[in-house]
Amino acid sequence: MKFPTSISTLILGAAAASSSSNAIALAAESSGYCPTIYADFVRRQLANFSPDGIFVAQEGESQKHTPFLTLSDDGKSATVIVGNGEEEGGVYHPMSASTDPLEVHFVTHILVKDQDGNFIVNEALDPTVAAPATITFAVPDGVTEMVAYEWCNKHGLWAGPAVQVSTSETETVPVQEKSLEVSAECSVSDFPEAAWPSVHADFLRLQAQVFESEMPYTEADGEKHVPYITVNEDGTSSILVGKVGGPIHPMNGSDGETPPHWITEIYVVDQDGKIVAMKSLDPTGVTEATMTFDTPEGATTMQAYSWCNIHGLYEGPVTEVEAPAEVEITEEATDADAVTVKEAPSSGTAAVVSLSVIASALTLTALEM
Ligand SMILES: [Fe+2]
Ligand SMILES: [Fe+2]
Repeated sequence: MKFPTSISTLILGAAAASSSSNAIALAAESSGYCPTIYADFVRRQLANFSPDGIFVAQEGESQKHTPFLTLSDDGKSATVIVGNGEEEGGVYHPMSASTDPLEVHFVTHILVKDQDGNFIVNEALDPTVAAPATITFAVPDGVTEMVAYEWCNKHGLWAGPAVQVSTSETETVPVQEKSLEVSAECSVSDFPEAAWPSVHADFLRLQAQVFESEMPYTEADGEKHVPYITVNEDGTSSILVGKVGGPIHPMNGSDGETPPHWITEIYVVDQDGKIVAMKSLDPTGVTEATMTFDTPEGATTMQAYSWCNIHGLYEGPVTEVEAPAEVEITEEATDADAVTVKEAPSSGTAAVVSLSVIASALTLTALEM
């Protein structure tokens, strides 16, 4: 599948319209994460929100979703704030953390592009931090213009007004040198731990709304998307999305022409339904979706989830965690014979509490702005 030309132009933005083809090539050589997540936001925007593309609030319309970018006095840093709550009658976009798919509503990411369409920064946000949604970042040398974008989990992709950067230093830096620096700054951003339950709730919301499935998919729906856990002896656990010796899920970033297709997040819940690990994945230069994490102390079972940007939410099989052997060293121990090893009691009977919120309560109504 290829994007129509108009979509490619939208994804590449200013870069496609720019005569500076060097900027595009340089960006493609660095991590492709930011172009990839942005391309996916554009894909979702066109499919689910507006065939006309990215939302830009016009004069007189609500600025609740608009990412406003302001420069520091010395021009070396910039801040993005979503909404105009500082104005009389204005409102900031809410940051409503929730485990309820019906309630969770927040700005998941803020990204910023420069005048050549190169990405400067990407940050995944935590909805447990009170509004406004905001990030502050260093402005790379050579940047002359910036545009901020934000993704609202319920209302899509929004662009803010272009902001000019004019300092004597930035004007003297060659464009190519600047592009290398800028491209290196934008990379994958993990959600803070406090955000994990809300991220899961949003995936359940999307699973119901976009994929019309009240529950995550399972092995029965195909092994290629299933996250399988291996508990290692060194105290870590590993996850691979797909079956060893069988189908493995691809990790295809965006080249600006074809839509990306990758596992965006992998996460793990324990026997109590607590999310104990989550990772956002960069498809650049990898062929498999994997994750390694410290096996949590006290975990008796674990179950992994994976989100595919095209195919939705999958849950893996419940995996037993063997309790580590207890090593007891007696006082008179002088050699290896005096060390006795006791097996810790099995705790395999602990009930697994699924995090799967009953999504049947979801009423799929028209999106409200
Ligand atoms: Fe929103
Ligand atoms: Fe997929």
